[in-house]
Amino acid sequence: MTDGELLAAADAIAARAYAPYSSFRVGCAVLCSDGRVIEGVNVENAAYPLGVCAERTALSRAIVEGYRPGDFVVAAITASPCGGCRQWLAEMKVPRVVFRNGGRVVEMTTDELLPEQFVL
Ligand code: THU
Repeated sequence: MTDGELLAAADAIAARAYAPYSSFRVGCAVLCSDGRVIEGVNVENAAYPLGVCAERTALSRAIVEGYRPGDFVVAAITASPCGGCRQWLAEMKVPRVVFRNGGRVVEMTTDELLPEQFVL
C-alpha cells in the first residue's frame, strides 16, 4: 500500500468522525506490519476536553486488536497531528507519518515530529 492510498483511506474514514462541536472531521489510517490498515476518527464530547483525536482512536483500536508498539509501518492523517498525538505516535513506535497541512502533504518521521522524546 502506498502513502497516497493510505492517505486516501484516512480521507474516506474522516466522513465517520463524530465532530458536532468543532465540525472539524479528522481521519487516520495506520498501516500495520502484517499489511492490515486500522482506521480512526475524532470523537468529540459535550464536555470538550473529553474528546478523542482520530490518531488515538485508530491506535487504541489497533491495541485492542492485539497490535503492539513496533507493529506499525506508517500513519496517514488528514490533519497535522497535535502535540499529544505526536506523543502517542512516539509511544506506539510509529516510525513515519504522512499528513495534510494547509493543502500540502507532509511526510515526516515521528522523531522529527517529536524530537528529544520523553521516555520512561
Ligand atoms: N483533532 C484530531 O482528531 N487530531 C489531531 O491531531 C488534531 C485535532 C481533532 C480534535 C477535535 O475533535 C478537532 O480535531 C478540532 O480540534
